[in-house]
Amino acid sequence: MDLGLKNRVAFIAGASSGLGRATARALLSEGCHVAICSRSSERIQCAAMDLARDTGVPDDRVLPLVCDVTDEDMVRTAVGRAADHFGGLNILITNAGGPPTGTVLDFSAEDWRSALELNLMSTINLTRAALPFLKESAKADRPLARILMVTSISAKQPVAGLYLSNVSRAGVQGFAKSLSEEVGADGITVNTILPGYTRTDRLTHLSEALAERRSVSEEDIEAGWAGQAALKRIGREEEFAAAAAFLVSEPAAYITGVALPVDGGAIKSLL
Ligand SMILES: NC(=O)c1ccc[n+]([C@@H]2O[C@H](COP(=O)([O-])OP(=O)(O)OC[C@H]3O[C@@H](n4cnc5c(N)ncnc54)[C@H](OP(=O)(O)O)[C@@H]3O)[C@@H](O)[C@H]2O)c1
Repeated sequence: MDLGLKNRVAFIAGASSGLGRATARALLSEGCHVAICSRSSERIQCAAMDLARDTGVPDDRVLPLVCDVTDEDMVRTAVGRAADHFGGLNILITNAGGPPTGTVLDFSAEDWRSALELNLMSTINLTRAALPFLKESAKADRPLARILMVTSISAKQPVAGLYLSNVSRAGVQGFAKSLSEEVGADGITVNTILPGYTRTDRLTHLSEALAERRSVSEEDIEAGWAGQAALKRIGREEEFAAAAAFLVSEPAAYITGVALPVDGGAIKSLL
């Protein structure tokens, strides 16, 4: 299937590693120009070099940008730079790291605020910065305007010990659904993608933290996660990225307002 992504421009946040970087790799392989951002100059430049090398595209197809997505000014500047550099913007993928684990009394009010900044406000910041460019792209001769927000299975089914994630992701789902209604008439689609347990640096840190908290081995923690999925294994980042690439593609033009789990069947609800 032709995903219609050749020469499209994507901005992918939180892309120096993990799911963001894997999604950048998938979109580059489909012929996109990709701006990637993260907080660390060294990590994002390294990721850009690796991505160009792995996909065999010229270095200038990948634009590495330093940007903390919780900082509204940095976000506006980074998104504007990407659009200037590549001459527009078709696709925004919002993403960042995940918050720490713990239960209700483990966190201060400041911890709660930080988690909301990291996973909810960052999504809103990125969307507000990208919308004017996406609206232009939706009116172009070859229109394509997509927003895809990375959340978590915790948005549909709260995960024990992940209070901060459970709460902030639910906010993103509310934002995404509201926005899909508002910008649908402009031709912009808005969807969320909900990773289940997927092998990345974040997953490794999570299993270390939970193993210590519960005094069990990391292997036990990971076996428990794998066992929750109908497919009885942990996911691979390229499996997540393939689903993300489809949701931002041309053939996905009539899909908006959905929350797609990529979780090997970990969520047990009917819908
Ligand atoms: N992997 C899973 O199993 C899984 C499951 C459910 C949900 N998720 C969620 O999916 C998202 C991505 O997960 P992942 O596994 O890919 O995590 P990861 O490997 O830790 O990668 C997170 C990326 O976000 C960047 N980042 C972190 N904070 C940032 C900030 N404030 N501003 C800009 N960039 C920032 C990091 O780069 P720098 O450090 O260079 O800034 C890194 O590139 C997270 O929200 C995670 O909670 C993951």
